Amino acid sequence: MSKTAFTPRVFSGIQPSGNLTLGNYLGAVKRFVEMQESGIQTIYCMVDLHAVTVWQDPEKLRHNTRELAAAYIACGLDAEKSILFNQSQVSGHAELGWLFSCVARLGWMNRMTQFKDKAGKNAEKMSLGLYAYPALMAADILLYHTTHVPVGEDQKQHVELTRDIAAKFNHDYKTDFFPIPEPVIDGAGTRVMSLRDGSKKMSKSDPSDNSRINMTDDADTIAKKIRKAKTDPEPLPDNLDALKDRPEARNLINIYAGLSDQKPEAVIAEVAGQQFGQFKPLLADLAVAKLAPIGDEMARLMGDVAEIDRILGKGADRAAEIAEPILAKTFDIMGMVRSR
Ligand code: TYM
Repeated sequence: MSKTAFTPRVFSGIQPSGNLTLGNYLGAVKRFVEMQESGIQTIYCMVDLHAVTVWQDPEKLRHNTRELAAAYIACGLDAEKSILFNQSQVSGHAELGWLFSCVARLGWMNRMTQFKDKAGKNAEKMSLGLYAYPALMAADILLYHTTHVPVGEDQKQHVELTRDIAAKFNHDYKTDFFPIPEPVIDGAGTRVMSLRDGSKKMSKSDPSDNSRINMTDDADTIAKKIRKAKTDPEPLPDNLDALKDRPEARNLINIYAGLSDQKPEAVIAEVAGQQFGQFKPLLADLAVAKLAPIGDEMARLMGDVAEIDRILGKGADRAAEIAEPILAKTFDIMGMVRSR
């Protein structure tokens, strides 16, 4: 078995399920933009096939897909430099997803913490798609022979499963056709926590809107949510170790670091000794300065939906061009007759 050297390629995706948050921005989109500028080919998807693993209102799904595209572009993704498209327009995702659901083992799926978290005690009532989801995510990544996957901390287990699927496929078919992709999880914003509870992840599905900053929030709303963020009565210390048992304080320092492109160590040194009454307005000003223009630009882009659809269609054509030969070769390796 020869070892193939794969050309570096980046793929990542976000679910168009509404309420894109500061967590999605710092953990994902902002880092997508950095990778776009690194000289490596970058492919970024709106994963609508993933979104429908829980019921979506069709009109809202269409709106949220376009709004996510607007967010990508408003944050600095450029449809010329990166391939931007929605997943359902490239049928290879669903096809390779099926093949990988025949490679992945039930025992692997049963260990996925995201399914357990989402399904809770209601697993029997969840869709089969929600359970099979990680096989589709592996297909998203491997359909492009992706080598690097920028994600937030909560997606690490899914990328590890993707590696297991690639390795098992290669082993079972005595090939080295699929690369073993690397998760890229770095920077201060890879696990942004809820503003109301520092032990919970900031999430688009949290029932409390005050728990998160949405990319569509206006300047006043952003400032108000930061003012109301849960904290504690102690002043800020001069080192991060002292924040070990202060998750809300640690989260605000991380958010500041993520938004200002600094290390949390540098931020804590700068704000040591401050009360939250001093620090929160600084953070609110920074957040408004960084996020409000993105929200404004998203609103402007949403004024021309036809242009967004055109970008997604063109992106899908470019994506399909890469995907089709990889999918065809996969069918061939597995022994499917290809005669048309
Ligand atoms: P999704 O849509 O839940 O989240 C999109 C991206 O945002 C990151 N993220 C966060 N990062 C930091 N702090 C947070 N609070 C936070 N919340 C979300 C996520 O880690 C993710 O990077 N399964 C994926 C979508 C997906 C995908 C893929 C990703 C489908 N196929 C292929 C990469 C490659 C998901 O549900 O992400």
